[in-house]
Amino acid sequence: MKKQVRKEELQNYVLQELISRKGLLTTGSMLAKKLGVTRSYIQKMIQELIEYGYQIESIRRSGYIYYDDTKVLNKEAILKMLKASFYQDILLLNQVDSTNNYAKKLAEEKKEGIVVIANYQDSGKGRLGRQFISRAGKGLYMSILLKPTFPIDFARRITGCVAVSVAKALEQLVNTKIDIKWVNDLYLHGKKICGILTEAVSSMEMGTLEYVIIGIGINLYQQDFPSNAGFLATSIEEETKVVISRNQLIATILNQIEEDWSQIVSSSYIEEYRNRCFVIGKMVELHLENKKQMVKVLDIGPEGELIVLVDNQTRAVYSGEIMRMVISNAKEN
Ligand code: BTN
Repeated sequence: MKKQVRKEELQNYVLQELISRKGLLTTGSMLAKKLGVTRSYIQKMIQELIEYGYQIESIRRSGYIYYDDTKVLNKEAILKMLKASFYQDILLLNQVDSTNNYAKKLAEEKKEGIVVIANYQDSGKGRLGRQFISRAGKGLYMSILLKPTFPIDFARRITGCVAVSVAKALEQLVNTKIDIKWVNDLYLHGKKICGILTEAVSSMEMGTLEYVIIGIGINLYQQDFPSNAGFLATSIEEETKVVISRNQLIATILNQIEEDWSQIVSSSYIEEYRNRCFVIGKMVELHLENKKQMVKVLDIGPEGELIVLVDNQTRAVYSGEIMRMVISNAKEN
């Protein structure tokens, strides 16, 4: 028993020593000398640590290097955590113009069920022709190419359902409520952390979807954001001080999307969407049909549409953009 405690203490010491020298070489002889044990005992302990999943590289005749791989994209690590069977392959790219564009080319080659993830996008796209800033290694830039079997009419529900899935996945990892700003943005503490861009191509004659690309961009570790007059942006690390593993987040999101996917047809995701939608009951400036209008948001309708009060009339808005929110709660008309 005593021997076991001592071994655990020694192993923990070795780990802490390696972590404190992250990215640097630590020799086995140095560790052996400090602990008064043999080099082969050190080697055995480190081998066990590697088997536990610590990212330690053992360099023959030289020593050991500890790497913090929390932010490093790794296909094997993602696959280990992936329970979903929806996805046929995961492609990790270092640099691309836009993962949505890349997925579109795959769709044209008749591929499906592919997840494209990039470390950096030089032309990341947002909704309404906007740019999505995608700095190298600072966020999650992922597109999912699927061929849904449901009719075209359900396509407009995809973004809302995926927004709920991504919110749930993030909450599992940061333990803080994630809100939704209609229609496709996720918010944390009142600032944007994620945008979703869904692009669908349909076959009109068949009344079906040829393919759909769901692009998800999440600010994870970024610290500086361009100033924006309307809504502010932030990152998960900046806001919560939590450094999420990108691999874990990817697997959690993909698992959650598969789990929730049938809710697109049943429309049952709407309740969850509504509960997270922080503009309900608020006066907002809505960009609609090339005009800016002040409206009161009454509700989210069954198709994910915004139900608003404008010029004393209730209207359902299927596409548009909320530019600004008036802080105080709107008075009933
Ligand atoms: C928005 O904020 O309006 C939507 C942003 C969507 C960004 C993601 S990042 C991965 C995928 N590739 C892109 O070019 N855009 C989406």
